[in-house]
Amino acid sequence: MCGIVGYIGGQEAWPIIYEGLRLLEYRGYDSAGIAVVDPHGNIQLRKTVGKVNGLDEDGAGPKPQGTVGLGHTRWATHGRPTHENAHPHTDCQKRIAVVHNGIVENYRELKRRLTDDGHVFESETDTEVLTHLVEEGMDQGLTFQEAFRRMGRMVKGSQAISAILQGDAAQICALRLGHAGGIVVAQSEGQTIIGSDLPALLPLLHTESNIGQVGFLETNEMAVVTRNGVDYQDLDGNPIVKQTRMVSQADVQVDKAGYQHFMLKEIMEQPQAVASAMRERIDFEARRVDLPDFPFTKQEIADLDRVILIGCGTSLHAAQVGRHLVERYGGLPAEAESASEFRYRNPYISPRTLVVSIGQSGETADTVAAMQMAKDKGGKLLTICNAEGSQATRIADGTLYMRAGIEIGVASTKTFLASLTILNLLAIFLGQSRGILDQEKSQELVDGLAQAPRLIGDLLADQANYRRIAQLYADFDYFLFLGRGVNAPIASEGALKLKEISYIHAEGYPAGEMKHGPIALIDNAMATVALAPKDFLYDKVVNNVKEVKARDGRVLAVLTEGDTELAAEVDHVLYIPEAPEHLIPLLATVPLQLLAYNIALLRERDVDQPRNLAKSVTVE
Ligand code: G6P
Repeated sequence: MCGIVGYIGGQEAWPIIYEGLRLLEYRGYDSAGIAVVDPHGNIQLRKTVGKVNGLDEDGAGPKPQGTVGLGHTRWATHGRPTHENAHPHTDCQKRIAVVHNGIVENYRELKRRLTDDGHVFESETDTEVLTHLVEEGMDQGLTFQEAFRRMGRMVKGSQAISAILQGDAAQICALRLGHAGGIVVAQSEGQTIIGSDLPALLPLLHTESNIGQVGFLETNEMAVVTRNGVDYQDLDGNPIVKQTRMVSQADVQVDKAGYQHFMLKEIMEQPQAVASAMRERIDFEARRVDLPDFPFTKQEIADLDRVILIGCGTSLHAAQVGRHLVERYGGLPAEAESASEFRYRNPYISPRTLVVSIGQSGETADTVAAMQMAKDKGGKLLTICNAEGSQATRIADGTLYMRAGIEIGVASTKTFLASLTILNLLAIFLGQSRGILDQEKSQELVDGLAQAPRLIGDLLADQANYRRIAQLYADFDYFLFLGRGVNAPIASEGALKLKEISYIHAEGYPAGEMKHGPIALIDNAMATVALAPKDFLYDKVVNNVKEVKARDGRVLAVLTEGDTELAAEVDHVLYIPEAPEHLIPLLATVPLQLLAYNIALLRERDVDQPRNLAKSVTVE
């Protein structure tokens, strides 16, 4: 969740680390801090509560000078977002500065022992034990590297840790433990940057070539960065030969392209995201799905007897839609579950089980842990992921990349539609390969998918209408989102978008369940958003809408164009075009995203960085 950046090179470290923290801010923005080793070899520290730009504004005088440094942007777990709890943390003698992403699970017992031994703690964080453990090792005569490794062997939990040492010998140690919290190392033309992810690192290498040599730390691996380069080693100090690769800045460019927010830009990019998710995966001549990146053989596909889809947040909603698609078109029993629950069950998984994880970041701790568990149990593991080289892609047997481009807005949008597109492709592919779908049906489905980018583009055209409707609903404090079948998870996604960015209480509910409880909430202060597109459950949802109207509820309905009958019974309508059933979840999502976006704007919320959230949740 938190973001880490470290720099060693010939340039001033502060502006580079500062820029890196800005790029990593989507991972957390409760507080920020930078430590730089100054020309006298002393560690200079500056921290701020809140966003990274506070480091520039706190009037603390000139920026610390030096060519080695470490920075952190925090998403608080242990200890409130205060100045004392902001990273980097230092040891008693202020010789070491440490930044951390994850949780030290045994910090209480470590802290108790260190305190008994005379170490003085200045914060409430779990992180601070790391600094005192390194200090303790050095006090016992170990080198910085040895003491850092010893600390790594003593702490429990999944995390990424990095530290710098005062003095002339520029040195950064970075360590990854468990599956949460990645560390990437990028080198170019005499400078090295370490950090939490690749998109934040490469733009920092202000080099002529604009190309970096990049290595990812695996679990229990450590990088020691000096002016001479990078050594990779394990926790016992044995050297590791790391496969690195060249990556160019062009691969990771990000800007708002003139939009007020990344979220709006990313919503507007959805036709492109959906098209690129289909690229080279559909044979438009034969009108067939062809997945060259699917990792299993025809025989293995034929032997599958079950599909389990997992994810968190928006990706869980995609998994829930995927379950319907796999059952309907793939002809396999399918279930969907949140990765955070799944990982602590003891599910029956065999080599005939296909486990599909979905994740924008590929770094969500619960998703990664659930994947590892499924792999250990012998399941076949596929991931649908947007982030190249992320942990999910490294654990899975194969990856279907979303190719949506970098998503910066904390509330996922284009990666959700890219996921739904790939889940459609996967379901059709399974159906084709297993002989469940006849040629005519699969051609019809493929033809439908080919229309998706155009239909989504049409939906995005009339922005004024979404603004108008948002004005009518922005003052409601309670929302119920209803949908049935494949649209029930879309109702949940609509509610999630609204609560994430506007802080309005919103619940997504399967429409048929409404009468078993939520109906008690209906009155004129409750807004109901009903998804009632023309599909085989349409008549059922119409009944649910009538039940709400009969109780004075205000209803905004998402209807198929031309549905004047139901339109006459509800208060307001957002239309989606007539489309084949497997496209409806994609189309119905777009108006809900824009409703949430415009309501959040009217409520003057921080759309791209809503409070308390983080884009990538690398703690449990
Ligand atoms: C966080 C984000 C959500 C996202 C979820 C899963 O909670 O705020 O927007 O849906 O993580 O992220 P993933 O990268 O696994 O899709």
